[in-house]
Amino acid sequence: MTESLSTRGSWGSKVGFVLAAAGSAIGLGNIWRFPTVTGQNGGAAFVLIYLGCVLLLGVPVMIAELSIGRKTASDPVGAFKAIAPNSLWKAVGGLGVLTGFIILSFYCVVAGWTLKYVLLTVSGQFVGGNPETIQRTFTTFVADGVSVTIYHLLFMALTVWIVTGGIEKGIEKASRILMPTLLLLLALLVLRSLTLPGASQGILFYLSPDFSKVDLGVIMRALGQAFFSLSLGMGAMITYGSYLSKDDNLVSSALYVSLADTLIAFLAGFAIFPALFSVPDLSPTVGAGLIFLVLPNIFNAIPFGQLFGAAFFFLLAIAALTSTISLLEVVVAYFIDQRGWSRKRSALLVGLGAFLFGLPSAYSNGSVSFLDGFMDAVFLYFGEISLALGALLICLFTGWKWGVAAALEELHSGYSYSSRFVAPVWSFLIRYVCPIAIAIILTSIVASYLGA
Ligand code: PFF
Repeated sequence: MTESLSTRGSWGSKVGFVLAAAGSAIGLGNIWRFPTVTGQNGGAAFVLIYLGCVLLLGVPVMIAELSIGRKTASDPVGAFKAIAPNSLWKAVGGLGVLTGFIILSFYCVVAGWTLKYVLLTVSGQFVGGNPETIQRTFTTFVADGVSVTIYHLLFMALTVWIVTGGIEKGIEKASRILMPTLLLLLALLVLRSLTLPGASQGILFYLSPDFSKVDLGVIMRALGQAFFSLSLGMGAMITYGSYLSKDDNLVSSALYVSLADTLIAFLAGFAIFPALFSVPDLSPTVGAGLIFLVLPNIFNAIPFGQLFGAAFFFLLAIAALTSTISLLEVVVAYFIDQRGWSRKRSALLVGLGAFLFGLPSAYSNGSVSFLDGFMDAVFLYFGEISLALGALLICLFTGWKWGVAAALEELHSGYSYSSRFVAPVWSFLIRYVCPIAIAIILTSIVASYLGA
């Protein structure tokens, strides 16, 4: 059963949509994950490859997702069904919904860490601490499965609550105020980080590329990170696009969202790496704990650091929240549009399911030894590979099944591109460059797993 357009909800304004889509894109992927993978994959060379992936592959796929969504005004499964009825293409939407559910399950675990860090910072836990005590606090906390689960539950409950509120009043309202504040605090943090002793080494690591470190794994990470960070490959932008009105300019929206997302990730690197190199014994390759180990050191080195630190982790939690609501929204939209469930019932049941599915991740950082590394593995399969596969199929669908002519008609609806440049460049990228590049990278990664 399909809800009519008026009861599906829609964005209140164009700016509201851009902020909400940017809210989906900007999250832990930018501030937690981007510095972590950059650190593990050699620094500047990774950053350059990442930028290439965003520009050449991410932006065209985002335009494609938004146009599929707006054309069909439906959830990901319904969208493929509407354009290609009675075909297997709906499975691409199904893969997206499943991927969204699984990403939500572990994403809320890390988002819960940020809530805990708000409390730790505000209560002065790090004041006067040194890198060693800061590290101990982190490892003790993540190894305490029960605590981690409580924060995970709290975060999931918040997400369900907002998604139950619907599109305009819930998601859009929250994004409007909080995203600009995050940018401001991050910029201040960068200023302090850049002026710490030893900062120049960090800047060098971040900005001077060493291509000898680049191998297939690095390229795959960059591609996966680009799709993860831009919320692409699982229908989040199809879903958000489905609430758009016909007179919005999809190309400029996609560009704004990608630019904002990339800027925040890039800034996060400037906050982390200079500070990282000013802390003895900390290496960029530490992994998932990176920002939790580095940032408290910066807060200790600034006036009002306790307050500033608490505000920063609070905003990080909010950035994560605007992403978890988009993840949940994808799955909820599916149950509303395809199964006829109410918004409330969908949000509650999907939230509960994702909470339960997230438990092994909550216990995978030192609490239960056989679960060690579980979260990393799910991240690899669903946060990276599945998104890249989804993006590949979306390119093939848009470029070859739906067809660029029909897609361009949707892009032009309500807005005619004065530039003669956009249509041919986008068509070429979505038909050839994106699918070929993504397919080559995916195939080689699978081959490397199979030991070929
Ligand atoms: N883009 C989000 C981030 O960078 O944290 C994560 C995410 C949200 C991925 C929504 C995928 C998605 F559909």
